[in-house]
Amino acid sequence: MEEEKLHELFNDMSLKEKVGQLIQLSGDFFDAQNISFGPHDDLGISQEMIDLTGSVLNVTGAKDTKHIQDIAMKKQPHHIPLMFMADIIYGYKTILPSPLGLGSTWNPELVKKGFENAGKEAYASGNHVAFAPMVDVAKDARWGRVLESPGEDSLVNSRMAKAMVEGFQKDFDKKKGQAACVKHYAAYGAVESGKEYNTVDMSISNLFQNYMMPYKAAVDAGAKMVMSSLNSLNGIPTSADKWLIKDILRDKWKFKGVTISDYASIQEIIDHGYARNNSDAAKKAIEAGEEIDMKSPVYATELVKLVEDGIVDSKLVDDACWHVLKLKNELGLFEDPYRGAAIQKELKEVMSPEKRELSRKLAEEAIVLLKNKNSVLPLNKKEKYALIGPFAKEKSLIGMWAVLGEEDKVVSLDEGLKNKNINFEVAKGTDILRDKKLVDSMGFFSKFNPVHISSESEEKENLEKAITLAKKVNTVILALGEHKIESGEGGSKTNLHLARNQLNLLNEIHKLGKKIILVIFGGRPFVLTDVEDKVDAIVEAWYPGTEGGNALANILCGDVNPSGKLSMTFPYSEAQEPIYYSHLSTGRPSKNPQKDGRFVSRYIDAPGEPLYPFGFGLHYGEFEYKNIRTEKQEYSIDEKISIKVDITNKGDMESFETVQLYMNDPVASIVQPVKRLIDFKKVHFKIHETKTIEFIVNSKSLEYFDNFGQEIFEPGVFNLYIGPNSRDLMKQEIIYK
Ligand code: GLC
Repeated sequence: MEEEKLHELFNDMSLKEKVGQLIQLSGDFFDAQNISFGPHDDLGISQEMIDLTGSVLNVTGAKDTKHIQDIAMKKQPHHIPLMFMADIIYGYKTILPSPLGLGSTWNPELVKKGFENAGKEAYASGNHVAFAPMVDVAKDARWGRVLESPGEDSLVNSRMAKAMVEGFQKDFDKKKGQAACVKHYAAYGAVESGKEYNTVDMSISNLFQNYMMPYKAAVDAGAKMVMSSLNSLNGIPTSADKWLIKDILRDKWKFKGVTISDYASIQEIIDHGYARNNSDAAKKAIEAGEEIDMKSPVYATELVKLVEDGIVDSKLVDDACWHVLKLKNELGLFEDPYRGAAIQKELKEVMSPEKRELSRKLAEEAIVLLKNKNSVLPLNKKEKYALIGPFAKEKSLIGMWAVLGEEDKVVSLDEGLKNKNINFEVAKGTDILRDKKLVDSMGFFSKFNPVHISSESEEKENLEKAITLAKKVNTVILALGEHKIESGEGGSKTNLHLARNQLNLLNEIHKLGKKIILVIFGGRPFVLTDVEDKVDAIVEAWYPGTEGGNALANILCGDVNPSGKLSMTFPYSEAQEPIYYSHLSTGRPSKNPQKDGRFVSRYIDAPGEPLYPFGFGLHYGEFEYKNIRTEKQEYSIDEKISIKVDITNKGDMESFETVQLYMNDPVASIVQPVKRLIDFKKVHFKIHETKTIEFIVNSKSLEYFDNFGQEIFEPGVFNLYIGPNSRDLMKQEIIYK
């Protein structure tokens, strides 16, 4: 619709209609199925306001969306179409690896293609806005939502944010794809103690340096929406934070799209202790610039009266409503309220072979080889193996936040190995999860995601069968991990070890003296310290997605060389959390406690280092790094620096290697981390190929944020590091004069 016509429509709307556009409700309000995770309360919204609602949460499918659109538009005085928004976070029906796995691909270009595919599936199915990318920097594996994040690093998350937005919004100007809604703004990943919905409090310098840039990257890539987070930040709930929404997002970053609360987060301003009641919450949220109220009654019941009583400036409602109408117009909904959704098109797009193949490629690049003692991997097609463990035949490989995925369409590990003609037999050994108290504590959520807990006799029999099978082979492939209900939203944990019953199975097999190839499924970094020395190989599979079994089989059989690298640190102990590579030096850095003794920054009962560092991942074969160099050592600040290194693939397979460039600013007006990733390149190497890899660095790359959120460059000495991960690095010192 021409903007002039849109203005005419807007000017003809009543205040109630405008407020209606700022309400988002779930499918149960619209005679449709309802997938929404969050507090289920009776909202007490009048039917009049329900009929004026502007958008719907988590109703998908061409049939349902058309049905609801028809009903809703009839009820709207100006027949304004609904916007359909859904949690399409790492795939719609063809599910990609969970985002911590996508981050571990270090391949934004391939991830972008995966999100293009997700956008095509969702577009054909009548969805308009995807509640993704989730790019919260996450440094604490106790937090369940690390599942959804690309990881702990601002640069990796920023590049993934750009790729995901561009993927979803490909051909958006041709009314195709999805509008991307980046979340959760801001710094939700920094919840204290990794406890869900907990407090976030940090310096402005730390906030901008480590948490804000991925959201900005998504905004710069053209994201159409920004979703607030469920935490308070420095004492203010983000849905009521005018500085965050107006001063930074709107004024500094020039965001012109729509802001939306998280689920009920406007009403939760009261629970945070920032508003007295719904009316006060409505006033504080709309004045902060929060535009759509997701699944809370506050705007629907309070905003009209606040404006009529002159307590809230009507312009705030006008601006918010105008942003919503503009997005609906950009989506082309006034011309085609179904936006191209059609059952036949949906059937053709969803789960197409090409989309499955791309999901498999992403999973292959997401999988991280953490250990491979004596090259026990790749598997030997002449050898017979035992595939043991609760994930051996498991199809729940898509994680908690693939709410629209279909687990029955997932390729399990045993199916993948069968497709590669590997000779093996299967035994379950034990359940994934046997903690009934934990399952029961999840209320309605457990009904959505039933957990099978075997009887004691079944459990005993499963273990016996597994031991009997293990005795018949030399090498056991042991498929363990966490149930999908143990991570994702509401999935914070204090114990990051494998479940006790799974550890028992591993120990029983270890006692037999068998070689063990441990394959780990889950949404978060685990503490593997208690199993590391009992197994010969460790393969981190994350939730590998719809094609997980095929991707794993290709890696385990050596048809694909593993190239994944951890985008989040694996701790030695959960007591170290949050543990991350870009830590500060402290005044007493612990070099080697045995030499330095007691009074250094250390634990007396555990190492300070992680078990596996950020950026770590092995291949079949080694890479040799040598000859790091720059043309000179001193540069004027307007000069660019070329830093190079020679890398050789010493292995007998072609391989991808992610070369990482870190910097350290040893003297600064705000202390800087011992190292910070400033660039990376994923490079293909033929067998025994040597390449010279070059990075270009300038003063901009070496800036840091001060406590006003300003980027600062201070000339002086800088240390540059290049290597295959954040620990094993070659150093080159340079000086910017
Ligand atoms: C949830 C999540 C958010 C999701 C929204 C809608 O509480 O925090 O990521 O998009 O509600 O389901």
